[in-house]
Amino acid sequence: MTPPKTAGTERLPRHVAIVMDGNGRWARKRLRPRSFGHHAGQKAVRGAIEFCLRRDIPALTLFAFSSENWQRPPDEVSALMELFLKALDREVDELHGYGVRIRFVGELSAFAPALAQRMQAAMDRTAANTRLHLNIAVNYGGRWDIAQAAARLARAVQAGEIAADAVDEHSLAPYLCLADEPAVDLFIRTGGEQRVSNFLLWQIAYAEIHFSPVLWPDFDAAAFDQALADYAGRERRFGKTSAQVAGGA
Ligand code: IPE
Ligand code: IPE
Ligand code: MG
Repeated sequence: MTPPKTAGTERLPRHVAIVMDGNGRWARKRLRPRSFGHHAGQKAVRGAIEFCLRRDIPALTLFAFSSENWQRPPDEVSALMELFLKALDREVDELHGYGVRIRFVGELSAFAPALAQRMQAAMDRTAANTRLHLNIAVNYGGRWDIAQAAARLARAVQAGEIAADAVDEHSLAPYLCLADEPAVDLFIRTGGEQRVSNFLLWQIAYAEIHFSPVLWPDFDAAAFDQALADYAGRERRFGKTSAQVAGGA
């Protein structure tokens, strides 16, 4: 006999993606430099990971640095790189102990060798973990992702592994970042802006979107709970009618 499910369990997302936005405004409200906000944002990252571990959400993808973020003032970019390095040195052991698999997704070759090596080492070290898949998008762009997938598929066509006429969404899908994760069920953006900013594009085709006014450093378990409650109340129709969904068709 299967034990009864905990109330609401079936309404939990299997994969949550978050645009962690609002660090700069959080700092400005305190008359502090933007880097102060990024620093404060790290605690919220920890909180979100722990939240997913507690709630048995199996996949979490965080947008940490977009391909467009290189255009920020050089001192802000260096401060962010410094934070990434330190966070890697500090957090990987413990996350590994919790059974977290860490993956960085994005164009990693653009990072300084010291950082790229640390990212690779964290991925290698935690590769066999299964409790939570934590994907951190760095130097990531949704358009870049689709273009790199197309380029790799084109090479397969060129090598005669697949016919050009056979190319469809199913043959492209395996080349995209996060191909081995379930589709994103819940897409959260904090900080009040209502846009995707070139984060996951393909992968959020049928995600439910939750815009939170909370600035990222203040995004706590209560705010995450609110996003989950919002998600649980949505009817996901995937193109069908409400009656079909209700009938389980
Ligand atoms: C998000 O916060 C963090 C990164 C983009 C790295 P912002 O730095 O964009 O904060 P706001 O949007 O200026 O408040
Ligand atoms: C998106 O936030 C990128 C990250 C959160 C890492 P931005 O703050 O860079 O987005 P825009 O430029 O305001 O749309
Ligand atoms: Mg922003």
